[in-house]
Amino acid sequence: MSKIFPVDAAVAASALINESKYFELYQASLDNNDAFWAEQGMRIDWIKPYSQIQDVSYAKSDLHIRWYHDGTLNVCANCVDRHLPEKASQTAIIWEGDNPENSKHITYQTLFDEVCRMANVLKSLNVSKGDRVTLYMPMIPEAVYAMLACARIGAIHSVVFGGFSADALAGRIIDCQSKLVITADFSHRGGKSIPLKKNVDDAAKIAGVSDYLESVLVVKNSEVAVDWNDSLDHWYHQKAEQVPAECPVEEMSAEDPLFILYTSGSTGKPKGVLHTSGGYLVYASLTHQYVFDYHPDDIYWCTADVGWITGHSYIVYGPLANGATTLMFEGVPNYPDSSRFWQICDKHQVNICYTAPTAIRALMREGNSYVESTSRLSLKLLGSVGEPINPEAWQWYYDVVGEAKCPIVDTWWQTETGGILISPLPGATPLKPGSATRPFFGIEPALVDGEGKELSGEAEGNLIMKRSWPGQMRTVYGDHQRFIETYFSTFEGAYFTGDGAKRDKDNYYWITGRVDDVLNISGHRMGTAEVESALVAHPKVAEAAVVGYPHEIKGQGIYTFVTLNAGLEGNEALRDELVKWVRKEIGPIATPDIIQFAPGLPKTRSGKIMRRILRKIAEDEFANLGDISTLAEPAVVEDLIANRQNKK
Ligand code: PRX
Repeated sequence: MSKIFPVDAAVAASALINESKYFELYQASLDNNDAFWAEQGMRIDWIKPYSQIQDVSYAKSDLHIRWYHDGTLNVCANCVDRHLPEKASQTAIIWEGDNPENSKHITYQTLFDEVCRMANVLKSLNVSKGDRVTLYMPMIPEAVYAMLACARIGAIHSVVFGGFSADALAGRIIDCQSKLVITADFSHRGGKSIPLKKNVDDAAKIAGVSDYLESVLVVKNSEVAVDWNDSLDHWYHQKAEQVPAECPVEEMSAEDPLFILYTSGSTGKPKGVLHTSGGYLVYASLTHQYVFDYHPDDIYWCTADVGWITGHSYIVYGPLANGATTLMFEGVPNYPDSSRFWQICDKHQVNICYTAPTAIRALMREGNSYVESTSRLSLKLLGSVGEPINPEAWQWYYDVVGEAKCPIVDTWWQTETGGILISPLPGATPLKPGSATRPFFGIEPALVDGEGKELSGEAEGNLIMKRSWPGQMRTVYGDHQRFIETYFSTFEGAYFTGDGAKRDKDNYYWITGRVDDVLNISGHRMGTAEVESALVAHPKVAEAAVVGYPHEIKGQGIYTFVTLNAGLEGNEALRDELVKWVRKEIGPIATPDIIQFAPGLPKTRSGKIMRRILRKIAEDEFANLGDISTLAEPAVVEDLIANRQNKK
């Protein structure tokens, strides 16, 4: 029996949604789905109002997803311009630098001025409606200006997280054929400088990139000089002086693309998840308001990076569509020391703090004194996202950080879903540590077995969604067939999430993790296939297999089994070389935790690597290997066990 934390009566009284209202609205949202979404669509401003609500088919032969599709709008106008009459002098963004001495408040008026300026710079660089623009940016306000500037002129942004390498960046520029990259000279994290512009220079030299890339726009974020290519590079501050201050908005159809965001799948190269304008904004704004119980004047902080979907939906689009004050942090949780998060809460009087289990676990390990040295009196609500939160970390977050006064919303969702699908609502949902609890309005989850048969009542199975919601991704950029195969082929007529889940007797959902070959490292998605193909590209590597294993801080770590070319011996120097190689091919976020040199890998007689066995070895479950008699060479397993590497 897991513990239950009832809804606090005072929280319920002041919250937007209490428990009975949740049940009533949830039922209505399913019974009268179109009426529900027709009403919710009106929370944003439309240039031409919609008359159509949804046009969705999950059938493989005719897969399409359209919401509000005869309406027109501009996302940037919704996030900025429409707040000016009442909120011009309200803070839109609080920016907190890596260096605790640097912070600034950006009003909605300033945001408007800066976004218009940036939009005109993009136009001056030949960017227009429908063009793709890649952002490779630090967590500085210009990253938000750039996203909104793209939205203003109808360009499609593709934000690439700064922890990806030049090679990974190049692949993403080529895939969506970007004509412009926006970057900064350096990014600052934890007192260190990361040479973003240098990575862009390296990416620009990679074969294929110059077919599309016309310009690189560089924001000055440091006093250190960088290499310069006059035919490609432009300083943002210089261009900004040369353009007009006013920039009209582009009228966009609800289904015009807003952004592409690359994410790892179980096979092949990362997929360009495509989100469109109207439905995405309605869903991001609605979930931001209800899940975080956002009230006017609340100070809201999501600690994610804008390079991930969490940053897109819950630093930028959701909060700004709601006219909120959103905090953006350039740095890391443990710099200058492990009290930084809580110092930021005190400094800016943060009311809502939304972070990831990996950060919570890392801070928990440092002890309570870093938390207890701060007041945190302003905090009302805590949030968690990215991976299952273990009950111990949940309890620490609740007791020590929130002092048993703040509900925790454990929000389950994905890059593909655009916004939160399963989560407690603070005034409505009794909490169980480790459970994402109940579906949001309009969301109809179900559990199915391996054959696609729906399971009822208390059950464990594959998590699917039976109907669409406005924030759902529309396609894989440039590869609609892959979209259909990845999400709509495993279970006929439903969206397959790739996650497993349990449902308990109270109808609460407990996410158990991925059921495919996708790892979740510190809340970041990484395909085993991606790491494997990086490794086999090394001239000394014949074959590689990658699996996840439980890691105390990161949730999962990357365990790699590597077979070298004939005649080569593995040693520490080669391990270091391979680690560096993967960091170059993909980026620091894919750094293998463990490399085990293996003379052979367990394979079936038809040559398929049996990952099930490798996973068990990585998890130390030697007694539990299952049937190995079908292996081509059962002896390789003994060698793998005998040479198992110690975990870090
Ligand atoms: O496995 C689930 C896990 O993260 C995956 C989605 O990763 P990504 O697209 O990078 O988006 C992360 C931020 C939304 C999911 O398939 N996941 C996300 N949130 C949770 C979670 N697992 C358990 N509990 C969560 N709250």
